[in-house]
Amino acid sequence: MFRAITSLLVLTCATIFNVYPTYADELKTYIVHLSSPEGQEFTPSHDREEWYKSLLSKSASITHPKPGFASKMSAEQARVLENMEELHTTRSPSFLGLQKNSFRKSSNNGKGIIIGLLDSGITPGHPSFNDKGVPPPPAKWKGKCELPGCNNKLIGIRNFINGSLPIDEDGHGTHTSSTAAGSPVDNANVFGNANGTATGMAPLAHLAMYKVCGVMSCQGSVMLAGMDAAIEDGVDIISLSVGARISKFYTDELAIGSFAAIQQGIFLSGAAGNLGPEITSLLHEAPWILTVGASTIDRQVRTTVSLGNKKLLDGESVYQNENFNHKFRPLVYPGKDGDKDASMCTEGSLDHIDVKGKVVICDQGLIIGPERSMVVKDAGGAALIITNDILYGETIKAGAYVLPASNVGYKEGLEIKKYLNSTCSPVATILFRGTILGVKSAPQVASFSSRGPNSASPGILKPDIIGPGVDILAAWPNSVDNKTTKATFNIISGTSMSCPHLAGTAALLKSAHPEWSPAAIKSAIMTTATHVSLDGHAIRDGFNKLPADIFTIGSGHVNPSKANDPGLVFDIQPDDYIPYLCGLGYTPKQVQMIVRKTVSCLKTIPEAQLNYPSFAVSLTRGDSKTYSRKMTNVGLANSTYTIKDISAPDGVTVIVGSGFQELSFTEMHQKLEYEVQFTWHHGDEVKVRYGQGHMTWVSGRYSVRTPFAFTFE
Ligand SMILES: *[C@@H]1O[C@H](CO)[C@@H](O)[C@H](O)[C@H]1NC(C)=O
Ligand SMILES: *[C@@H]1O[C@H](CO)[C@@H](O)[C@H](O)[C@H]1NC(C)=O
Ligand SMILES: *[C@@H]1O[C@H](CO)[C@@H](O)[C@H](O)[C@H]1NC(C)=O
Ligand SMILES: *[C@@H]1O[C@H](CO)[C@@H](O)[C@H](O)[C@H]1NC(C)=O
Ligand SMILES: *[C@@H]1O[C@H](CO)[C@@H](O)[C@H](O)[C@H]1NC(C)=O
Repeated sequence: MFRAITSLLVLTCATIFNVYPTYADELKTYIVHLSSPEGQEFTPSHDREEWYKSLLSKSASITHPKPGFASKMSAEQARVLENMEELHTTRSPSFLGLQKNSFRKSSNNGKGIIIGLLDSGITPGHPSFNDKGVPPPPAKWKGKCELPGCNNKLIGIRNFINGSLPIDEDGHGTHTSSTAAGSPVDNANVFGNANGTATGMAPLAHLAMYKVCGVMSCQGSVMLAGMDAAIEDGVDIISLSVGARISKFYTDELAIGSFAAIQQGIFLSGAAGNLGPEITSLLHEAPWILTVGASTIDRQVRTTVSLGNKKLLDGESVYQNENFNHKFRPLVYPGKDGDKDASMCTEGSLDHIDVKGKVVICDQGLIIGPERSMVVKDAGGAALIITNDILYGETIKAGAYVLPASNVGYKEGLEIKKYLNSTCSPVATILFRGTILGVKSAPQVASFSSRGPNSASPGILKPDIIGPGVDILAAWPNSVDNKTTKATFNIISGTSMSCPHLAGTAALLKSAHPEWSPAAIKSAIMTTATHVSLDGHAIRDGFNKLPADIFTIGSGHVNPSKANDPGLVFDIQPDDYIPYLCGLGYTPKQVQMIVRKTVSCLKTIPEAQLNYPSFAVSLTRGDSKTYSRKMTNVGLANSTYTIKDISAPDGVTVIVGSGFQELSFTEMHQKLEYEVQFTWHHGDEVKVRYGQGHMTWVSGRYSVRTPFAFTFE
């Protein structure tokens, strides 16, 4: 029997031309009230739009807180591996340092690891799911295929949606699967752009799809059934580009299901959600899941808006047409007189507006995406400028628009509208710049990436990590432009796209270190994350281009090859979560719903005492809190770690307990403990609500960084 909860699915991004409330862009979101025993109704998804509208109206006041795995390879596998060394990948794996990298070899590209995805289905037969060089699944595999087309790459397809086949009618599940573990496919591109070899993060890993989302919804009970099946079938990693905003873990089917998964040693990667930049907007707040935010990669498919006043403003669009005449055309903004629908160019809203042959400005609303470009095209518009709203800020995306277009940031949009206002005959055109690589501002956190603080467990810092989730090219069921019938790909954005990048990273780590627990893999990823973009600047927030704060970026940007050799890990065994859950104030019965065994709650710990690779500390004036951490040596047997840097906001001191400033390990897998005391001094003025800092243990090549988030009560 299931509790009445609100399940808010975030399956993100699509480019099919449908009208709300079906799929739309990375804000594709469903709100489904599950039937309660009292028979609560299914609520339509308009709630989300209401919420968004209310957000917009108060947007001005938004506060923004501050060893080789020595197994034999067949000749074919070796060849596949060899070729991978020279891939011009369609970017995100190579952006993450996986090109020409010894880690690819030591991790065998994820060979032998099974990644299960709970998603919208999959497209068997897509070239990304060919099994060249992929060995048969391990003997433990008990899954099955409910569709023809399985092979050594795609080893399982199961459907939990009544009245449908497990094929992917959306595209989302095909895209996420190929991002995690797609086989290499040459000449992958969208409209000829971002051309290269498409490959997943762990190209030799196996894939299993659990279809838990229908066209309109993902229900909690169905997701739990899919999760249980994945555990039973024997997957090693679960990728969750779906999720719900919840307040108690015992009411969250995915938190409950995923706890059963870690009890079996299965690693979970979950999308942080696309509800940013609003704070406290996260999905997957449980500490046993890796919660993944979205960031940009160093590739753009650039289009530039050229205005009659000679100003040039860069934006993005995948559609680039050599035959387009770049002459100036009249510039119009259908929303100029305040008509909300026309400002967003919704269907029918342009019927009485003359946009024929003109460059049309449309505002990025809740669901504006490539589908909206059809409206402008049908109305006779020559080109389209999509201006971000204040919340979308400066995160722009290369959508598969159907006519010359450019998605520009909020500031650029204001500049275009200012020009429009300044003259009686405004003109503009779009210039195509093609695929640009090496964009130095990357990685940058996407404005839409959900942010902390963690509401279900304020003592655990979330999100945990950020990874590629903007303009990700991956497999798609059908051709976006209707021109090709074979290898089809699409570029979409969302934390749904970053989540499988981390699932694939975990597959590589698990293949290289089969003995690591899910918590150890998580720790390795978090303590080795990076904090600077390619231009050497602190990683920025796409919302406002300022350095991203800790509730936006978590531990930082994933660095897979560093995660392969972290030196030390913060390990957690499944039973360690029991005193933590009791410490959240849950009754033994409520804890039992999660851990599925008898619990007494005689022992409790504060949340922040869980052996987590980051700290979230709440302090009142004059308050002092002490927590301990235990680190396990997975680096060199004899190694001595010292604290290199330690930082905290003004008014707060952080002291590592006396006798703990140096940690000397003498053997592998040895565990050593240390204490950290956080104090907010009497009399010191702390005017902000949030603060951040970090400390780093170093020894030779190893650097183990733990971030601190502070909430001042
Ligand atoms: C699917 O059908 C089965 C059998 O008719 C039923 O028990 C189950 O509740 C249905 N599930 C959903 C999600 O409708
Ligand atoms: C993509 O790149 C390949 C290899 O460089 C090339 O042969 C092919 O023509 C390119 N395709 C497009 C559409 O640019
Ligand atoms: C342009 O003019 C309209 C009134 O016609 C005004 O509401 C809007 O704020 C102006 N936009 C800019 C960017 O100046
Ligand atoms: C592709 O074909 C479908 C079905 O005929 C049509 O609805 C859609 O608009 C087409 N897409 C493009 C980009 O032309
Ligand atoms: C570590 O150091 C100890 C003594 O300092 C020594 O006995 C031991 O052999 C060393 N272990 C390794 C693996 O070097």
